[in-house]
Amino acid sequence: MAGRIPQSFIDELLNRVDIVDLIDARLQLKKTGREYQACCPFHNEKTPSFTVSPGKQFYHCFGCGAHGSAVGFLMEYDNLAFPEAIEELARSVGMEVPREAGSQPQVDQQRSDHYALLERVDRFYRSQLREHAESGKAVEYLKNRGLSGEIAQTFGLGYAPPGWDSLLKHLHDPGSQSLAVELGLLVEREGGGCYDRFRDRVMFPIRDRRGRCIGFGGRVLGDEKPKYMNSPESPVFHKGQELYGLFEARKANQKLERLLVVEGYMDVVALAQFGLTNAVATLGTATTPEHLERLYRTVNEVVFCFDGDAAGSRAAWRALENALPVLRDGREARFLFLPDGEDPDTMVRRIGADAFRQKTVESVPLSRFLYESLSQQVDISSVDGRARLVELARPLLKKLPDSVFRDLMLEQLSELSGLKLAQLQRRILGDTTEADAPMVSQPRRDLSRSPVRSAIRLLLEQPALGAGIDPPYRFDDLDLPGVALLIELLELTSSSPHLTTGGLLEHWRGRPEASHLARLATTPLMVPADGCEQELIGALQRLIEQRDSQRTEQLLLKGRDSTLSDAEKTEIKQLLANRCPTQEASE
Ligand code: UTP
Ligand code: MN
Repeated sequence: MAGRIPQSFIDELLNRVDIVDLIDARLQLKKTGREYQACCPFHNEKTPSFTVSPGKQFYHCFGCGAHGSAVGFLMEYDNLAFPEAIEELARSVGMEVPREAGSQPQVDQQRSDHYALLERVDRFYRSQLREHAESGKAVEYLKNRGLSGEIAQTFGLGYAPPGWDSLLKHLHDPGSQSLAVELGLLVEREGGGCYDRFRDRVMFPIRDRRGRCIGFGGRVLGDEKPKYMNSPESPVFHKGQELYGLFEARKANQKLERLLVVEGYMDVVALAQFGLTNAVATLGTATTPEHLERLYRTVNEVVFCFDGDAAGSRAAWRALENALPVLRDGREARFLFLPDGEDPDTMVRRIGADAFRQKTVESVPLSRFLYESLSQQVDISSVDGRARLVELARPLLKKLPDSVFRDLMLEQLSELSGLKLAQLQRRILGDTTEADAPMVSQPRRDLSRSPVRSAIRLLLEQPALGAGIDPPYRFDDLDLPGVALLIELLELTSSSPHLTTGGLLEHWRGRPEASHLARLATTPLMVPADGCEQELIGALQRLIEQRDSQRTEQLLLKGRDSTLSDAEKTEIKQLLANRCPTQEASE
C-alpha cells in the first residue's frame, strides 16, 4: 500500500459505484418503494430492517443501527481495512487508486521485503521439521501431544533447528540477514554478527487476516524456560491487534458465526483437530480493544475461554471491559471458565468435541458475569451495598453503546439495586447522551425545530442543495453548537455538488461527529422532497436573524459599560434598522 488516497478520488469513486449493486451481490435485496431491503447481515433478525437507499448511496439498519456508505459496507461485511475497501471498489469499476506523494512508497517497499523474508523463513522452518537430522524429536513431541500430521500441516507448524546459526546460514546474504534482524528472527551480538533467536523449538507461524506470515511463536520441546518465545513487535507484527488462528478459522468456515477466544496456540490447534475450527488466541497478551473490534467485525458472538484460576478471571474481566464499547445490538459476549488445571487442549481431549461444544453453548453471558462479579464485592442485602453496586456498575454501563442490550442491563441493575429505572438512567447515562451529540447543548430547546439541526438534516438529505448557497454565510460567528459543522457541510456541498449522502459522510470518517451525522441522516424527515430547498433557505434565514440579534445584544451590552467605536456604532444602527417589525413590537 502506498501513500494517502486523495479524498477527491474517494468522492469520484463513490459517484461511480452503486451501493445497491454492491450489496445486492452479497445479500439479495428486495425493492420496496424507492429503497431496498434485506435481513441485516450484522445482527440476527427474521424480518428485514436493513435498508439501502440508492438515492443517498447509504445503508442503514433500523434494528441494530449499523450504517454507512459503500466503503463502510465493504469494510464491515468483507472485513476489510479502509484502503483495502477502496481498492476493492476501484477494481469493481475499473479505476486505478492514485496515491498522494510522500515518504510512504519507501515504507511499502520495506514492508513487502519483510513479508517476503517471513515467507522464506516460514518455508525454512517447515522444511526443517521434515528434513533436519534432529527433527525426529520435534515430530515425536508433536505426536505425543496428540497432533496429527494433517493439523500440523494446516497450521504450518515447523521446527527451528538447534544451534546458533541455522537460519543465519540459510539466509546467507547480508541483505536478508539484516531484514531478519529487523523482524527479530536473528539477534545482533554486541561484538558484531548475529545468531538465531529461535533454536530447537516447534514453530507456530502467526498469520495475518490475509494469510501472510507476520511472525512466529516457538515452543521448547521440554520444560525449559521460557516455554514460549514470540517474535518481537516489528513493522509488520503488532501483538495487540493480531489473533492467532483467525486466518485458519475463516478459511475453514464459509460463514463464521461464533469465535472462541482461548489463551494458547496449542489450544487453537488442538480444538481445530477435533473439528472446533473457530478458535483464536491472543499472542500471549491481554485482549485489547483492537482485538475486540476485529473479533466483532468477523462474528456477532464471541466466547472467551479462560482458565478457572484467579489469573483466568482477571483476564476475563479485562476482556469484558474491552468488549463493552463494541457491544451494539446483535453482538454477544459469553464466558467459559474451565476447571482449575485444565485448558481447552486438555479439556477437548478428555471430554471430546461434542461435550466441549456444548460447554461453549452453555457459557456464562456477559451480563451474568458482570453482575455476579460486582455483587461479590458488595453486601447486596444492605442499602449501602446496593448503592455501591450502582457506583461500580456505572463506569461499565456507560461504556455500552445506546442499545436494547444497554436498556436490559439497566433493567437488571434496577432489579438488583431496587432503584427505579428512570433514576438509574439519569444517574448512569445522564451526562453521556448529551456529550456525544455536539449540537445538543445545555439549554433544552426543542431540537427537532432548531434551525442548525434542521439545516444539517436537509443537507444530508439532498447534498446538492448546498450548491445554491454561497458564502459569506452571515451567521458564521453565531455562537451556537453545530454552527461550525453546518458551515463545513455548506462549503463541502457547494464545492462538490455531486456528492451523495454516503459520499458526504465519508468526509467525516474517523472524526467524532461521524456517528452523530449518520444518526441524523437516518432520522425521518417530515419535509417532502420538493420542499427541502425552501425549508433550508428558511432555516438559514432564521440563523441569520439569530446571529443579528445575538450581535445586537452584544453591542448594546457593551455600549452600556463603555463607549462603542465608530464602526460599532454604524453596525448597531444597521442592525436595529434591519430588525423586522414584529421583533421590535415585542420589545
Ligand atoms: P500457556 O502456558 O497456557 O500455553 O500460555 P499452552 O498453549 O497451554 O502451552 P502448552 O499447552 O504447554 O504448550 C498461553 C499462551 O501464552 C503465551 C503463548 O502465546 C501461549 O500460547 N506464552 C506462554 C508466552 O508467550 N510465553 C510463555 O513462556 C508462556
Ligand atoms: Mn496447554
